Amino acid sequence: MASDPTTLRLRVAEARELNPLVRLFRLRADDGAALPGFEAGAHIRVRVDLGNGQSDWRHYSLIDFAAGGQQAPAEYLIAVRKEAAGRGGSRFMHERLREGDTIEAEPPKNDFPLHAGAGRAVLLAGGIGITPLASMAAHRRARGLPVELHYAGRSRAQMAFLPELGELLGTDLLLHDDEAKGAPFDVGALLARCDPADQLYVCGPKPMLDAVLAQTQARGWNSDRVHFELFTAPVVEEGDHAFEVELAMSGQRFTVPADQSILDCLIEHGCDPMFDCKRGECGVCAVPVIDGEIDHRDYVLTAREKAAGNVIQICISRAKGQRLVLDL
Ligand code: FES
Repeated sequence: MASDPTTLRLRVAEARELNPLVRLFRLRADDGAALPGFEAGAHIRVRVDLGNGQSDWRHYSLIDFAAGGQQAPAEYLIAVRKEAAGRGGSRFMHERLREGDTIEAEPPKNDFPLHAGAGRAVLLAGGIGITPLASMAAHRRARGLPVELHYAGRSRAQMAFLPELGELLGTDLLLHDDEAKGAPFDVGALLARCDPADQLYVCGPKPMLDAVLAQTQARGWNSDRVHFELFTAPVVEEGDHAFEVELAMSGQRFTVPADQSILDCLIEHGCDPMFDCKRGECGVCAVPVIDGEIDHRDYVLTAREKAAGNVIQICISRAKGQRLVLDL
């Protein structure tokens, strides 16, 4: 284990390409000890080398096809999608991390747990979002609980774990190949087939998640039936611009570039803001705003809180104008 008692030192026991975009890693404790347990939906945070003298953390969901729910596993299994336009974390995992290398990771954490209920677990995966949902499917299957997995990808060649999922789920695995179908996954058709007791779990890219949230709301679904996790870090959107943040307590001012979050900008300048997911899902990075208009992009604040405009999730949301004054 690492000298830092809060982190794990993991050795790469196996690293191999599942397809040109996805690389699989089998990680074991460097000292050979059993690893902390986890449940379906959990992830680990891995320290990645961005290649510019900086490191950062990336979340990777733990994959468990065995039986779902592991108490003291001998290894963790993760799969990483290569993001050509990313900041370098996935390139490190794809191009530089080799079998035998060691990496630092935080113990498993579960922000995306399964919930008890009488209905089915309807799982919707987009791309590499399959990783937590594969573990959930295995967990439900092992306990004889009803589960249905919809797995959408650009093409079959880019989708991972198809043989394992087919063996696990049989006809309860429904694949959607965008290229073959000539259209993206039809969220509305899926929702129309769900029963009121079903729970929906979604992990995929932002457009898929936004479509699910908008359409479940429009159909009057209770929000506690919809569970989700984004698989990508925030991306630069068209029209994103640089702006200034002022920290009211210290008077410090920083320019946040168009391709950087407020959170990363503050960290780069030696500040120590609170954060966890870095994807606008956990709420940890909330900061009161004293002045300036917020471009909200998170999945934490309610519509009313967003309209009030006095709190920002600094890991993902930005300024609509040229300046924000934060109560920091
Ligand atoms: S760090 Fe989780 S919402 Fe910002």
